[in-house]
Amino acid sequence: MPERITFPQDFLWGAATSSYQIEGAWNEDGKGESIWDRFTHTPGKIIDGSTGDVACDHYHRWEDDLDLMQAMGMQAYRFSIAWPRILPQGRGQVNQAGLDFYDRLVDGLLARGIAPFVTLYHWDLPQALEDAGGWPARATAEAFVAYADAVSARLGDRVTRWITHNEPWVAAFLGYGMGVHAPGVQDFQKAAAAAHHILLSHGWAAPVIRANSADAQVGITLNLYDVAPASPSPQDYRAARELDGFLNRWFLDPIYGRHYPQDVTAWFERVHGVQMNFVAADDVNSIAAPIDFLGVNYYTRHVVRAPDEDNAPRTIHTEDSEFTEMGWEVAPRSLFRLLNRLHFEYHIPSIYITENGAAFSDIVSEDGRVHDRRRLAYLKAHFKAAHDAIQCGVPLNGYFVWSLMDNFEWAFGYTKRFGIIYVDFDAQQRIIKDSGRWYREVIARNGFDD
Ligand code: FCB
Repeated sequence: MPERITFPQDFLWGAATSSYQIEGAWNEDGKGESIWDRFTHTPGKIIDGSTGDVACDHYHRWEDDLDLMQAMGMQAYRFSIAWPRILPQGRGQVNQAGLDFYDRLVDGLLARGIAPFVTLYHWDLPQALEDAGGWPARATAEAFVAYADAVSARLGDRVTRWITHNEPWVAAFLGYGMGVHAPGVQDFQKAAAAAHHILLSHGWAAPVIRANSADAQVGITLNLYDVAPASPSPQDYRAARELDGFLNRWFLDPIYGRHYPQDVTAWFERVHGVQMNFVAADDVNSIAAPIDFLGVNYYTRHVVRAPDEDNAPRTIHTEDSEFTEMGWEVAPRSLFRLLNRLHFEYHIPSIYITENGAAFSDIVSEDGRVHDRRRLAYLKAHFKAAHDAIQCGVPLNGYFVWSLMDNFEWAFGYTKRFGIIYVDFDAQQRIIKDSGRWYREVIARNGFDD
């Protein structure tokens, strides 16, 4: 007999996207240039030479996309706002046409019974701010607060769920440390400063959003991992502890009032020569501003082996595991472990999974359908893990699948498909994949048969 898995009654089921990955219309209606416009327009940065100039053309097709969401029974939708649509120069003059777009989008969602979850920053920094120093400059955190103020003042009467930032680790370390994301800088001192200013801007913006939005629930989304040592050796334990510090604790600790973890600051200094001279006296208190929920983006785990030389620890590929097109190990039980850890170690009052999903190579079959069996299995196993965590008392309140539709996957361009809706980018046609059809049933029944 299959086991019936049922979620709590008010559990929210949704899907997620981000502005640069779906909108297109990169230079329309007064929008300013973003660092991702600049980066993708620079030859050699994106694996297939593509850009987000058109992407899913969602800027023009949003009504059809919302209709599709409604047809799938979506209860919530997480999307992000393009800062350079609102403030083309990053600060100063507000572009009303940019605000109007999101105003219509929010009304369109509410009219369809879908709760908007707004992410203010999903990596498309106005290029003008980058030219003035970008996230390594403290002034960018100040500009973010003014931007958050402008958006929440306009949408705060209807939007109640606010996410300040998406994955500060990625924005800071892939953007300013490794340079594989915009703005393509390779400087760990700058990356660490960027991470700090992103967190600072989060803490500063939280009360500003609350002042504009009476019923606001404010949170931040982190990319988090379950990190385990590859063997019981002290070396591997130490390496796992370091990677866990770099990826997880570096962000969780200050947000939850524990300051920066000292073992990680020491590791930063030893490995990357980073000086924490950008942290001003009151900053740790600002970063620890009270928040209502944590957004968790979960994709994979890290099994860590100590490096031979004294540099970053290595993630190994476990034999017999399944890997996605990204090369990420499919590890649903690690989601269970991670959620429990957050609950027991950080006592977080409310958690949403703000992204979870998988890239597999999809094809449209002769019957016109996309039979994405592996993605369906991935989602099912992760939903099950989330359900188990709820049984352990984890206050998990909702789940957003990444992604609503195939889109521009950053440095990988259009070579990775994460959607539960297939997108034919030439014809701009959408096809709900089998995983999306199954998800519709899950939402309708608030659960599934295992
Ligand atoms: C996350 C990003 C999201 C998407 C997924 C696959 O790191 O937040 O935009 O690219 O990975």
